[in-house]
Amino acid sequence: MKDIVVSDKVSEFNRDVLEGLTSGQKYLPSKYFYNERGSDLFEQICGLDEYYPTDSEVSIMQHEIDEITEYIDDHVQLIELGSGSSMKTRLLLDHCKDLEMYVPVDISETFLNETARKLQADYPDLDIRPVAADYTTPFDVPESDAIKKRVVYFPGSTIGNFTRGRASVFLETVGENVSPGDGLLIGVDSKKDVGVLEAAYNDSKGITAEFNKNILVRINRELDANFDLDHFQHRAFYNVREGRIEMHLESLKNQAVYINGNRISFEKGETIHTENSHKYTVEEFEDIAGNYFERKKTWTDDREYFSVHYFERV
Ligand code: AVJ
Repeated sequence: MKDIVVSDKVSEFNRDVLEGLTSGQKYLPSKYFYNERGSDLFEQICGLDEYYPTDSEVSIMQHEIDEITEYIDDHVQLIELGSGSSMKTRLLLDHCKDLEMYVPVDISETFLNETARKLQADYPDLDIRPVAADYTTPFDVPESDAIKKRVVYFPGSTIGNFTRGRASVFLETVGENVSPGDGLLIGVDSKKDVGVLEAAYNDSKGITAEFNKNILVRINRELDANFDLDHFQHRAFYNVREGRIEMHLESLKNQAVYINGNRISFEKGETIHTENSHKYTVEEFEDIAGNYFERKKTWTDDREYFSVHYFERV
């Protein structure tokens, strides 16, 4: 049974990779960044000077925690999407008085279980139920009669990975799966100076470049491929028209790569589009979430680089 699940995942990865790399503009789904190594590299990105989103969001959470947790009042089931190391969550857990259950959901199972184990040690009385799942597809949420309200926590501007249309559809799905009065606490990156934006995705230590290339390392290892990492280059730039940072891997020469026996050719200068990171004004984001959710409150940092919104399901 286990083997079947594993090989299903491999063939899904194989299918997605081949589909992406045989398209006109080649692309790879950014969720595949997050194997164990990728999750670790992302944690390192969060600690970089240039990567302002983490610091900005943490400072909002620190300054506004009392007001924020007023919305996570009693008998709440807190469901965190893409929990990673649950760093910002600790602040919430420390300040929420009547939390009924904490459900971290993450695609990286090893990382998730390790985090849940550490959290359980620090919060022995809290009911922690990790769910290893790709939250972009349906998954089961643990139930309990004691739960009176659900709050979905989606920090880190991960919503920015979706195109505007898909973000809207995704939040509709979230809305359909909760009840009126339930909440959505979400971190969203703001539009700002292009220099600041581009520096955040082109750090001087090259960690973001390594994070980007890790997806090729993963394909080499898991799909019997032979990408030569020295012949691809990290590229990240702000696309003004789309209001997003795009990350690409640019082929430095004409070359061919084999993936499970499939030949994929690259022209010099051709890119694989690996990630989008959309930036929103408050009004733009209100529109995106507006089908099911009403904005109750927005908190921002001193520089107004980042926003945390609380929406209520109507
Ligand atoms: C985790 C998707 C919010 O888009 O800023 C960081 C991922 N990519 N550096 C982002 C990321 C390159 C990050 N998100």
